[in-house]
Amino acid sequence: MRTALYPGSFDPVTNGHIDIIRRAASIFDRLIVAVAVNKSKEAMFSPDERLEMLREAVSDIAGIEVASFDGLLVKYARDNGVTAIVKGLRAISDFEFELQMASTNHKLDPGIETLFMMTSNEYSFLSSSMVKEIAGYGASVSCMVPPHVERRLRERLGMN
Ligand code: PNS
Repeated sequence: MRTALYPGSFDPVTNGHIDIIRRAASIFDRLIVAVAVNKSKEAMFSPDERLEMLREAVSDIAGIEVASFDGLLVKYARDNGVTAIVKGLRAISDFEFELQMASTNHKLDPGIETLFMMTSNEYSFLSSSMVKEIAGYGASVSCMVPPHVERRLRERLGMN
């Protein structure tokens, strides 16, 4: 059984993430979507809130497990029998940092590959930060996130 791991902050999950999850799930037998509990990163949503939103967003996709992890990604991957880490690439601007992370992870554990999937064109502009910024100005983000995520954003931003 081939297991892949799609890690991220998912603060919050966007339609771009869901697109990658759907496509990766169709390639691997098992896909773990893992929320990083990254203490150095300021998040709008708690890890539990991010997990809840993710679980609802991928509930119709088969072969998915949603989890969270703390600490080194490659350690979590190794402990869970992961063959490949899947990352989405939106643009050349993503490449430099992603290459650095993939190379570091490969150095830490050469047994785990990083595979990049190009984000679908319609989501190439999309990021969680952009969604939070737009929602913060009171504009609709309905074409960028699922309805339950937009509801949570509006609640968090006191716009209900
Ligand atoms: O959605 P993001 O914020 O781009 O995801 C980044 C993430 C969570 C994949 C990255 O920060 C990560 O792997 N964190 C775990 C800690 C770790 O292993 N760091 C070394 C990676 S080079």
